Order: sequence, then C-alpha cells, then structure tokens
Amino acid sequence: MDALFDRVNGEQFFVDLVDHFYLGVAGDPLLRPLYPDDLTESKRHLALFLMQYWGGPATYNDQRGHPRLRMRHVPFVIGPAERDAWLRHMRSAVEQMVGRGLSPADAEELRAYFDMAAHSLVNAP
Ligand code: HEM
Repeated sequence: MDALFDRVNGEQFFVDLVDHFYLGVAGDPLLRPLYPDDLTESKRHLALFLMQYWGGPATYNDQRGHPRLRMRHVPFVIGPAERDAWLRHMRSAVEQMVGRGLSPADAEELRAYFDMAAHSLVNAP
C-alpha cells in the first residue's frame, strides 16, 4: 500500500501543512520566542522531517543527520503549556488540510502521531 506521503501527493502537502503551522507559531506569545527571528529554515527542516517520516525522500537525513528529536529539543524548555500550544497549532494546520488532499482517515493518523510525538518531547515540568 502507498505511504501517506504518496496518498497526499507528496512534497507540496507538507510544505502547506508546515506553513499553516508556523502561521500559528508566529502569533503565539509562548512559542514565538523559542524560534529564530527568520522562520525559513525552521519551516524547511520540519517539512523535510515530516516528508521523510511519512514515506517520502530521506532528504532530512541527508542534510541534518539522524533526527534525534528529543536531543534536538533539549535546548528548549518544553512543559505541558508549550506542548499544548504546539499541538493546538498543528491540529489546526491538519484541519485546514482536510479536503485539500488529506482524507479524514489520514488526518486522524497525523493527529495521533503528533499527539504521541509532542508528549514524548516534554522535558520540563
Ligand atoms: C512539544 C512542543 C514542541 C516545541 C515547543 C518545539 C520547538 C522547537 C524549536 C524551538 C525548534 C528549533 C527551531 C529552529 O532552530 O529553527 C524545533 C525544531 C524542530 N522540531 Fe520541534 N517542537 C515541539 C514539538 C515537535 C514535534 C512533535 C516534532 C515532530 C513531530 C518536532 C519536530 C522538529 C524538527 C524536525 C525540528 C528541526 C530539527 C533540526 O534542526 O533539524 N517538534 N522545535
């Protein structure tokens, strides 16, 4: 069976998802200070990571090495409030992609994954 990457027709879906997500982050007083002023590279890295995770090309690994997400998030204080804010923006981004190439079943798969991943990255009380 096709990977989710193929079901959503590849790269552009992830670029759009990540654009929506970062619009939310850009206006979030809790999360915005964690990110660099210029979000271009932040967007690119997250989109490449997600494409790779969901069965697309391994460009993330080629450019950034092994994801080691927990290690890469150690420099940032991520408590329940940061986790919930991050998830709120990502859920809203997923919602916006439903009907734009994303089936309800795949949307549910993405939500479950982001929920699990965000919980695993909490590193502060
Ligand atoms: C739980 C709340 C989270 C917070 C507050 C958070 C915050 C951040 C911050 C501040 C950066 C650095 C951005 C930059 O340097 O440009 C980052 C990078 C990244 N985050 Fe998160 N993150 C969270 C959850 C997640 C989740 C759930 C995923 C994956 C599903 C994820 C994937 C990534 C990736 C792939 C990068 C880029 C790593 C690289 O440098 O190659 N993050 N995150």
